[in-house]
Amino acid sequence: MTETPYLSIRSVGKSYRGVTALHDIDLDVEQGAFVALLGPSGCGKSTLLQILAGLLEPDHGEVRLAGADITRLPPWKRNIGLVFQNYALFPHLSIRQNVRFGLDMMGMGATEAEARVDEALAMVGLDPGLSRRPDELSGGQQQRVAIARAIAIRPRLLLLDEPLSNLDAVLRQKVRLELRELHNRTGITTIMVTHDQAEALATADRIAVMEAGRLLQYEAPQGLYRNPATAFIAGFIGNPAANLLPVIAHDGASWSLPGGALWQPDAALSPARNGVATGAACRMALRPETLALGPAAPGGLAGRIAAVEFTGGEHLVHVEAGQTRLSVRLPAGTPIEGPDIWLFPPKEGPLLFDANTGRRLPNPN
Ligand SMILES: Nc1ncnc2c1ncn2[C@@H]1O[C@H](COP(=O)(O)OP(=O)(O)O)[C@@H](O)[C@H]1O
Ligand SMILES: [Mg+2]
Repeated sequence: MTETPYLSIRSVGKSYRGVTALHDIDLDVEQGAFVALLGPSGCGKSTLLQILAGLLEPDHGEVRLAGADITRLPPWKRNIGLVFQNYALFPHLSIRQNVRFGLDMMGMGATEAEARVDEALAMVGLDPGLSRRPDELSGGQQQRVAIARAIAIRPRLLLLDEPLSNLDAVLRQKVRLELRELHNRTGITTIMVTHDQAEALATADRIAVMEAGRLLQYEAPQGLYRNPATAFIAGFIGNPAANLLPVIAHDGASWSLPGGALWQPDAALSPARNGVATGAACRMALRPETLALGPAAPGGLAGRIAAVEFTGGEHLVHVEAGQTRLSVRLPAGTPIEGPDIWLFPPKEGPLLFDANTGRRLPNPN
């Protein structure tokens, strides 16, 4: 017998005037988990989050929380904390009044509510003596107030919709770490919407990747990174993301590349070894940190260095190979001889995807 998940989303679908925003989403979230909903703008992340919050009703499907069907339960009966990109603080209320808002709605007595406000402000690292108005605070502080307001009610779920998007890059990294630490301390089951793959990898226990209203993959960050289910995910996760090399099986031993050049890789990467029929089109994902550069040798791919970016800890080398461009990450200090260079992919386990469906081809054993 499998245990009932804490949050369970079953066949949830939603259309807006004929446009399908969500197709039959199934997702389970364990109690205490931090889950990221990750995908490009317009893929349906906010729609799903609003269904969880009770702000939107799905056209079909069911949402269950702690064993109960909450699909049609109004938001105020769900005990869910919500944080948006734009903070959405009440401008006419003081910081403390903002944080106390949900507690007053619950009808909590003043003494207990004030203690909860102190606790929530301390949790997000704000001075509990703060009596200022929201517009006197910086963006980062305003977002901390919004988070304090959401957690003060001790919610059953904390829902965050792009909570870091309005912050500058430095603050974004700082607050994302604070969110993770807050989660470690409180254990509140958290679902965060983001279009930023680095943010999802850094904070979440599990990432649900969405594209065009569908859930593509639901995995821990490392699993998603190592075993992307589709070319889209491989080309989306990582900094920079995987290079996607378009290849067509020329024969059992070699691939033809865009422009017609032939590449005969190590046997492990050959079409025959990977069960790819001659003439079939694939995309081979090559992670920038797994590629090596060197002088001409068997198995390599001839290229030319177009540019090298120094990022402090490493070099990001941009190599043109025929009509494609690949990025290669090398530790700082690695000697780079160019401009003519050969690229060497790792010899084991290529990530190959069907060029038409985008789906991963099974790895040979
Ligand atoms: N209120 C609405 N009316 C009509 N279409 C909407 C509405 N809200 C969202 N959509 C559409 O639904 C799709 C998913 O939107 P959304 O859930 O906001 O995506 P995301 O949060 O991933 O950017 C998009 O195509 C968007 O244009
Ligand atoms: Mg959104």
